[in-house]
Amino acid sequence: MTTKELLLSPVAEPAKDAGDRITVVGVGAVGMACAFSILSQGYSSDIVLIDVVEEKLKGEMMDLQHGSLFLRNPRINASTDYAASAGSKICIVTAGARQQEGETRLDLVQRNTDIMKHIIPPLVKHSPDTILLIVSNPCDILCYVAWKLSGLPQNRVIGSGTNLDTSRFRFLIASRLGIAPTSVHAWIIGEHGDSSVPVWSGVNVAGVRLRDINPDIGTDHDKENWKELHEKVVSAAYEVIKCKGYTNWAIGLSVSALVYTMLKNINGVHAVSTYVRGLHEGLDYEVFLSVPCSLGKNGITNVMKQNLTPSERCSLKFSASAMAQVQQGIKF
Ligand SMILES: NC(=O)c1ccc[n+]([C@@H]2O[C@H](COP(=O)([O-])OP(=O)(O)OC[C@H]3O[C@@H](n4cnc5c(N)ncnc54)[C@H](O)[C@@H]3O)[C@@H](O)[C@H]2O)c1
Repeated sequence: MTTKELLLSPVAEPAKDAGDRITVVGVGAVGMACAFSILSQGYSSDIVLIDVVEEKLKGEMMDLQHGSLFLRNPRINASTDYAASAGSKICIVTAGARQQEGETRLDLVQRNTDIMKHIIPPLVKHSPDTILLIVSNPCDILCYVAWKLSGLPQNRVIGSGTNLDTSRFRFLIASRLGIAPTSVHAWIIGEHGDSSVPVWSGVNVAGVRLRDINPDIGTDHDKENWKELHEKVVSAAYEVIKCKGYTNWAIGLSVSALVYTMLKNINGVHAVSTYVRGLHEGLDYEVFLSVPCSLGKNGITNVMKQNLTPSERCSLKFSASAMAQVQQGIKF
Protein backbone atom coordinates (compact mmCIF):
# COMPACT_ATOMS: atom_id res chain seq x y z
CA MET A 1 0.00 0.00 0.00
CA THR A 2 1.14 3.55 -0.69
CA THR A 3 1.70 6.17 1.99
CA LYS A 4 -1.46 7.88 0.77
CA GLU A 5 -3.51 4.68 1.16
CA LEU A 6 -2.06 4.03 4.60
CA LEU A 7 -2.78 7.58 5.75
CA LEU A 8 -6.21 8.28 4.28
CA SER A 9 -9.40 6.21 4.69
CA PRO A 10 -11.77 7.52 1.98
CA VAL A 11 -15.29 8.28 3.17
CA ALA A 12 -16.70 10.15 0.16
CA GLU A 13 -15.43 11.51 -3.14
CA PRO A 14 -14.47 15.18 -2.71
CA ALA A 15 -16.73 17.49 -4.74
CA LYS A 16 -15.03 18.46 -7.98
CA ASP A 17 -16.31 22.03 -8.03
CA ALA A 18 -16.10 24.82 -5.47
CA GLY A 19 -18.90 26.64 -7.32
CA ASP A 20 -17.02 29.90 -7.79
CA ARG A 21 -14.88 29.13 -10.83
CA ILE A 22 -13.46 32.13 -12.62
CA THR A 23 -11.68 31.76 -15.96
CA VAL A 24 -9.16 34.32 -17.12
CA VAL A 25 -8.39 34.22 -20.85
CA GLY A 26 -5.03 35.82 -21.64
CA VAL A 27 -2.20 35.52 -19.16
CA GLY A 28 -0.47 38.77 -20.09
CA ALA A 29 0.11 41.70 -17.78
CA VAL A 30 -3.62 42.40 -17.38
CA GLY A 31 -4.87 38.81 -17.07
CA MET A 32 -2.33 37.99 -14.39
CA ALA A 33 -3.09 41.20 -12.47
CA CYS A 34 -6.78 40.17 -12.51
CA ALA A 35 -5.99 36.61 -11.39
CA PHE A 36 -3.60 37.76 -8.67
CA SER A 37 -6.00 40.37 -7.37
CA ILE A 38 -8.90 37.88 -7.20
CA LEU A 39 -6.80 35.19 -5.53
CA SER A 40 -4.96 37.41 -3.08
CA GLN A 41 -8.24 38.90 -1.83
CA GLY A 42 -9.85 35.46 -1.58
CA TYR A 43 -12.74 36.31 -3.94
CA SER A 44 -12.62 32.93 -5.71
CA SER A 45 -11.15 29.57 -4.75
CA ASP A 46 -11.06 28.19 -8.29
CA ILE A 47 -9.17 29.97 -11.06
CA VAL A 48 -8.58 28.66 -14.58
CA LEU A 49 -6.05 30.36 -16.86
CA ILE A 50 -6.32 30.05 -20.66
CA ASP A 51 -3.89 31.30 -23.30
CA VAL A 52 -2.37 30.17 -26.60
CA VAL A 53 1.25 30.33 -25.39
CA GLU A 54 1.74 27.04 -23.58
CA GLU A 55 5.05 27.75 -21.83
CA LYS A 56 3.95 31.11 -20.45
CA LEU A 57 0.68 29.56 -19.29
CA LYS A 58 2.51 26.79 -17.46
CA GLY A 59 4.94 29.24 -15.87
CA GLU A 60 2.18 31.54 -14.62
CA MET A 61 0.13 28.62 -13.29
CA MET A 62 3.09 27.11 -11.41
CA ASP A 63 4.17 30.46 -10.01
CA LEU A 64 0.68 31.08 -8.57
CA GLN A 65 0.31 27.47 -7.34
CA HIS A 66 3.55 27.86 -5.37
CA GLY A 67 1.86 30.64 -3.42
CA SER A 68 -1.19 28.44 -2.52
CA LEU A 69 -0.14 28.21 1.11
CA PHE A 70 -0.60 31.95 1.46
CA LEU A 71 -3.82 32.12 -0.58
CA ARG A 72 -6.48 30.07 1.27
CA ASN A 73 -5.72 26.92 -0.78
CA PRO A 74 -7.39 27.75 -4.10
CA ARG A 75 -7.55 25.47 -7.13
CA ILE A 76 -5.35 26.98 -9.84
CA ASN A 77 -5.38 25.32 -13.25
CA ALA A 78 -4.26 26.33 -16.71
CA SER A 79 -4.82 24.98 -20.19
CA THR A 80 -4.89 25.86 -23.86
CA ASP A 81 -8.05 23.71 -23.99
CA TYR A 82 -11.30 25.52 -23.15
CA ALA A 83 -12.74 22.33 -21.66
CA ALA A 84 -10.75 23.23 -18.52
CA SER A 85 -12.95 26.31 -18.09
CA ALA A 86 -16.22 24.32 -17.97
CA GLY A 87 -18.78 25.58 -15.48
CA SER A 88 -17.19 29.01 -14.99
CA LYS A 89 -19.38 31.56 -13.22
CA ILE A 90 -17.48 34.43 -14.82
CA CYS A 91 -15.08 34.41 -17.79
CA ILE A 92 -12.74 37.40 -17.88
CA VAL A 93 -11.36 38.09 -21.35
CA THR A 94 -8.05 39.95 -21.37
CA ALA A 95 -6.49 38.32 -24.44
CA GLY A 96 -5.35 40.32 -27.37
CA ALA A 97 -3.14 43.06 -28.64
CA ARG A 98 -2.53 46.04 -26.41
CA GLN A 99 -1.84 49.66 -27.36
CA GLN A 100 1.68 50.53 -28.31
CA GLU A 101 2.96 53.98 -27.37
CA GLY A 102 0.89 56.55 -29.31
CA GLU A 103 -1.81 54.07 -30.40
CA THR A 104 -5.44 54.66 -29.34
CA ARG A 105 -7.67 51.89 -28.05
CA LEU A 106 -9.75 52.11 -31.23
CA ASP A 107 -6.66 51.24 -33.31
CA LEU A 108 -6.98 47.67 -31.96
CA VAL A 109 -10.52 46.94 -33.21
CA GLN A 110 -10.14 44.42 -36.04
CA ARG A 111 -7.06 42.68 -34.59
CA ASN A 112 -8.85 41.99 -31.32
CA THR A 113 -12.19 41.19 -32.98
CA ASP A 114 -10.42 38.39 -34.87
CA ILE A 115 -9.00 37.09 -31.59
CA MET A 116 -12.49 37.18 -29.99
CA LYS A 117 -13.75 34.84 -32.72
CA HIS A 118 -11.41 32.16 -31.35
CA ILE A 119 -12.25 32.81 -27.72
CA ILE A 120 -15.94 33.57 -27.21
CA PRO A 121 -17.58 30.52 -28.89
CA PRO A 122 -15.57 27.89 -26.96
CA LEU A 123 -15.97 29.77 -23.68
CA VAL A 124 -19.75 29.81 -24.04
CA LYS A 125 -19.84 26.22 -25.28
CA HIS A 126 -18.25 25.01 -22.04
CA SER A 127 -19.96 27.52 -19.72
CA PRO A 128 -23.37 28.34 -21.25
CA ASP A 129 -24.55 30.13 -18.09
CA THR A 130 -21.45 32.22 -17.64
CA ILE A 131 -21.07 35.97 -17.40
CA LEU A 132 -18.57 37.34 -19.93
CA LEU A 133 -16.48 40.18 -18.54
CA ILE A 134 -14.63 41.83 -21.40
CA VAL A 135 -11.46 43.73 -20.55
CA SER A 136 -9.54 43.63 -23.85
CA ASN A 137 -9.57 46.92 -25.75
CA PRO A 138 -11.41 48.65 -27.23
CA CYS A 139 -13.52 47.37 -24.40
CA ASP A 140 -16.95 48.74 -25.44
CA ILE A 141 -16.67 47.61 -29.03
CA LEU A 142 -15.37 44.17 -28.06
CA CYS A 143 -18.30 43.86 -25.68
CA TYR A 144 -20.62 44.37 -28.65
CA VAL A 145 -18.55 41.81 -30.60
CA ALA A 146 -18.69 39.31 -27.71
CA TRP A 147 -22.45 39.83 -27.38
CA LYS A 148 -22.93 39.10 -31.08
CA LEU A 149 -20.60 36.09 -31.05
CA SER A 150 -21.91 34.56 -27.83
CA GLY A 151 -25.68 34.75 -28.22
CA LEU A 152 -25.84 35.47 -24.47
CA PRO A 153 -28.46 37.88 -23.07
CA GLN A 154 -27.37 41.49 -22.51
CA ASN A 155 -27.18 41.12 -18.74
CA ARG A 156 -24.44 38.49 -19.13
CA VAL A 157 -22.08 40.40 -21.40
CA ILE A 158 -20.33 43.14 -19.47
CA GLY A 159 -17.35 45.35 -20.20
CA SER A 160 -15.00 46.49 -17.44
CA GLY A 161 -15.58 49.88 -19.08
CA THR A 162 -15.19 53.05 -17.05
CA ASN A 163 -15.02 51.31 -13.67
CA LEU A 164 -11.28 52.00 -13.93
CA ASP A 165 -11.71 55.56 -15.28
CA THR A 166 -14.10 56.27 -12.40
CA SER A 167 -11.51 55.05 -9.92
CA ARG A 168 -8.87 57.28 -11.52
CA PHE A 169 -11.31 60.23 -11.40
CA ARG A 170 -12.21 59.71 -7.76
CA PHE A 171 -8.54 59.33 -6.85
CA LEU A 172 -7.67 62.63 -8.53
CA ILE A 173 -10.60 64.56 -6.98
CA ALA A 174 -9.81 63.05 -3.59
CA SER A 175 -6.15 64.03 -3.88
CA ARG A 176 -7.10 67.64 -4.64
CA LEU A 177 -9.49 67.77 -1.67
CA GLY A 178 -7.22 65.83 0.69
CA ILE A 179 -9.86 63.20 1.54
CA ALA A 180 -10.25 59.48 0.76
CA PRO A 181 -11.32 58.32 -2.76
CA THR A 182 -14.14 56.25 -1.20
CA SER A 183 -15.60 59.48 0.23
CA VAL A 184 -15.81 61.13 -3.20
CA HIS A 185 -18.89 60.26 -5.26
CA ALA A 186 -18.19 60.82 -8.92
CA TRP A 187 -18.76 58.94 -12.15
CA ILE A 188 -17.15 58.66 -15.55
CA ILE A 189 -19.53 57.18 -18.10
CA GLY A 190 -19.49 56.56 -21.87
CA GLU A 191 -16.52 55.13 -23.73
CA HIS A 192 -13.61 53.57 -21.89
CA GLY A 193 -11.33 55.77 -23.94
CA ASP A 194 -10.86 59.20 -25.36
CA SER A 195 -14.55 60.23 -25.48
CA SER A 196 -15.38 59.28 -21.87
CA VAL A 197 -17.84 61.60 -20.09
CA PRO A 198 -17.27 63.01 -16.59
CA VAL A 199 -20.60 63.59 -14.82
CA TRP A 200 -19.58 66.84 -13.12
CA SER A 201 -23.21 67.66 -12.30
CA GLY A 202 -23.32 64.78 -9.82
CA VAL A 203 -19.89 65.01 -8.18
CA ASN A 204 -20.46 65.26 -4.45
CA VAL A 205 -18.88 64.76 -1.06
CA ALA A 206 -21.23 63.91 1.79
CA GLY A 207 -24.18 64.93 -0.38
CA VAL A 208 -22.71 68.39 -1.07
CA ARG A 209 -22.57 68.87 -4.83
CA LEU A 210 -19.37 70.57 -5.92
CA ARG A 211 -21.33 72.26 -8.72
CA ASP A 212 -23.48 74.05 -6.09
CA ILE A 213 -20.28 75.54 -4.65
CA ASN A 214 -18.58 76.17 -7.99
CA PRO A 215 -21.19 76.46 -10.78
CA ASP A 216 -18.44 76.45 -13.44
CA ILE A 217 -16.84 73.19 -12.28
CA GLY A 218 -15.65 71.07 -15.17
CA THR A 219 -16.22 73.81 -17.77
CA ASP A 220 -13.74 75.98 -19.72
CA HIS A 221 -14.74 79.00 -17.59
CA ASP A 222 -13.76 77.37 -14.30
CA LYS A 223 -11.00 79.44 -12.66
CA GLU A 224 -9.93 76.40 -10.62
CA ASN A 225 -9.56 74.26 -13.74
CA TRP A 226 -11.16 71.07 -12.37
CA LYS A 227 -11.54 70.05 -16.01
CA GLU A 228 -7.86 69.07 -16.05
CA LEU A 229 -8.73 66.13 -13.77
CA HIS A 230 -10.81 64.54 -16.52
CA GLU A 231 -8.04 65.28 -19.03
CA LYS A 232 -5.68 63.41 -16.69
CA VAL A 233 -8.10 60.46 -16.58
CA VAL A 234 -8.15 60.32 -20.39
CA SER A 235 -4.37 60.52 -20.67
CA ALA A 236 -3.71 58.20 -17.69
CA ALA A 237 -3.24 54.98 -19.69
CA TYR A 238 -1.08 56.74 -22.30
CA GLU A 239 1.14 58.11 -19.55
CA VAL A 240 1.50 54.79 -17.72
CA ILE A 241 2.19 52.98 -21.02
CA LYS A 242 4.89 55.55 -21.82
CA CYS A 243 6.51 54.93 -18.44
CA LYS A 244 6.23 51.13 -18.02
CA GLY A 245 4.95 49.78 -21.33
CA TYR A 246 1.49 48.65 -20.19
CA THR A 247 -1.10 49.18 -17.44
CA ASN A 248 -2.11 46.31 -15.19
CA TRP A 249 -2.45 46.80 -11.42
CA ALA A 250 -5.38 49.23 -11.36
CA ILE A 251 -7.33 47.32 -14.03
CA GLY A 252 -6.65 44.06 -12.13
CA LEU A 253 -8.05 45.59 -8.94
CA SER A 254 -11.04 47.12 -10.70
CA VAL A 255 -11.93 43.82 -12.39
CA SER A 256 -11.62 41.89 -9.14
CA ALA A 257 -14.01 44.36 -7.48
CA LEU A 258 -16.58 43.57 -10.22
CA VAL A 259 -16.01 39.82 -9.73
CA TYR A 260 -16.57 40.16 -5.98
CA THR A 261 -19.81 42.11 -6.45
CA MET A 262 -21.17 39.51 -8.88
CA LEU A 263 -20.01 36.31 -7.16
CA LYS A 264 -21.31 37.45 -3.76
CA ASN A 265 -24.54 38.78 -5.34
CA ILE A 266 -24.11 42.15 -3.69
CA ASN A 267 -25.94 44.31 -6.26
CA GLY A 268 -23.34 47.02 -5.81
CA VAL A 269 -23.30 49.80 -8.40
CA HIS A 270 -20.33 50.12 -10.76
CA ALA A 271 -19.75 51.94 -14.03
CA VAL A 272 -19.57 49.08 -16.53
CA SER A 273 -20.15 48.75 -20.23
CA THR A 274 -23.64 47.58 -21.17
CA TYR A 275 -26.16 47.84 -23.99
CA VAL A 276 -27.40 51.43 -23.74
CA ARG A 277 -29.73 51.93 -26.68
CA GLY A 278 -32.71 54.01 -25.58
CA LEU A 279 -31.43 54.69 -22.06
CA HIS A 280 -31.04 58.45 -22.59
CA GLU A 281 -32.52 60.83 -25.14
CA GLY A 282 -30.54 60.58 -28.38
CA LEU A 283 -28.95 57.19 -27.61
CA ASP A 284 -30.33 55.62 -30.76
CA TYR A 285 -27.36 53.38 -31.48
CA GLU A 286 -26.87 49.65 -30.90
CA VAL A 287 -23.77 50.14 -28.77
CA PHE A 288 -22.25 49.22 -25.43
CA LEU A 289 -21.10 52.08 -23.20
CA SER A 290 -20.55 52.47 -19.50
CA VAL A 291 -23.27 53.72 -17.19
CA PRO A 292 -23.76 52.93 -13.50
CA CYS A 293 -25.19 49.40 -13.18
CA SER A 294 -25.97 47.15 -10.23
CA LEU A 295 -24.29 43.77 -10.46
CA GLY A 296 -25.20 40.41 -8.98
CA LYS A 297 -25.14 36.68 -9.73
CA ASN A 298 -27.07 37.25 -12.96
CA GLY A 299 -24.68 39.92 -14.15
CA ILE A 300 -26.29 43.31 -14.67
CA THR A 301 -29.45 43.58 -12.58
CA ASN A 302 -30.28 47.28 -13.05
CA VAL A 303 -29.10 50.13 -15.22
CA MET A 304 -29.18 53.56 -13.55
CA LYS A 305 -30.62 56.46 -15.46
CA GLN A 306 -28.68 59.47 -14.17
CA ASN A 307 -30.04 63.02 -14.27
CA LEU A 308 -27.58 64.22 -16.88
CA THR A 309 -27.32 67.84 -18.01
CA PRO A 310 -27.98 68.56 -21.71
CA SER A 311 -24.22 68.89 -22.30
CA GLU A 312 -23.47 65.57 -20.56
CA ARG A 313 -26.19 63.88 -22.63
CA CYS A 314 -24.70 65.40 -25.75
CA SER A 315 -21.21 64.07 -24.87
CA LEU A 316 -22.66 60.59 -24.22
CA LYS A 317 -24.42 60.69 -27.58
CA PHE A 318 -21.12 61.68 -29.20
CA SER A 319 -19.45 58.65 -27.51
CA ALA A 320 -22.25 56.40 -28.82
CA SER A 321 -22.06 57.68 -32.38
CA ALA A 322 -18.25 57.23 -32.36
CA MET A 323 -18.70 53.58 -31.27
CA ALA A 324 -21.44 52.96 -33.86
CA GLN A 325 -19.24 54.35 -36.61
CA VAL A 326 -16.33 52.07 -35.70
CA GLN A 327 -18.66 49.07 -35.41
CA GLN A 328 -19.85 49.56 -38.99
CA GLY A 329 -16.36 48.72 -40.25
CA ILE A 330 -15.95 45.48 -38.27
CA LYS A 331 -15.61 42.29 -40.29
CA PHE A 332 -17.22 39.44 -38.38
N1 LIG B 1 -10.30 47.67 -20.21
C1 LIG B 1 -9.26 48.20 -19.59
O1 LIG B 1 -9.42 49.06 -18.71
C2 LIG B 1 -7.87 47.75 -19.96
C3 LIG B 1 -6.76 48.18 -19.21
C4 LIG B 1 -5.51 47.74 -19.60
C5 LIG B 1 -5.36 46.91 -20.71
N2 LIG B 1 -6.46 46.52 -21.41
C6 LIG B 1 -6.38 45.64 -22.58
O2 LIG B 1 -6.19 44.30 -22.15
C7 LIG B 1 -5.60 43.56 -23.23
C8 LIG B 1 -4.40 42.77 -22.72
O3 LIG B 1 -3.35 43.62 -22.32
P1 LIG B 1 -1.99 43.01 -21.75
O4 LIG B 1 -1.16 44.17 -21.35
O5 LIG B 1 -2.28 41.94 -20.76
O6 LIG B 1 -1.38 42.35 -23.07
P2 LIG B 1 -0.29 41.18 -23.14
O7 LIG B 1 0.32 41.27 -24.50
O8 LIG B 1 0.61 41.27 -21.95
O9 LIG B 1 -1.14 39.84 -23.00
C9 LIG B 1 -2.07 39.41 -23.96
C10 LIG B 1 -2.18 37.92 -23.81
O10 LIG B 1 -3.21 37.47 -24.72
C11 LIG B 1 -2.80 36.21 -25.21
N3 LIG B 1 -3.53 35.88 -26.44
C12 LIG B 1 -3.41 36.40 -27.67
N4 LIG B 1 -4.26 35.79 -28.51
C13 LIG B 1 -4.93 34.86 -27.81
C14 LIG B 1 -5.94 33.92 -28.13
N5 LIG B 1 -6.45 33.81 -29.36
N6 LIG B 1 -6.41 33.11 -27.15
C15 LIG B 1 -5.92 33.21 -25.89
N7 LIG B 1 -4.96 34.09 -25.52
C16 LIG B 1 -4.48 34.91 -26.47
C17 LIG B 1 -1.31 36.39 -25.45
O11 LIG B 1 -0.64 35.16 -25.59
C18 LIG B 1 -0.91 37.16 -24.19
O12 LIG B 1 -0.53 36.28 -23.15
C19 LIG B 1 -5.24 44.60 -24.31
O13 LIG B 1 -6.24 44.62 -25.30
C20 LIG B 1 -5.23 45.90 -23.53
O14 LIG B 1 -5.45 47.04 -24.34
C21 LIG B 1 -7.70 46.91 -21.04
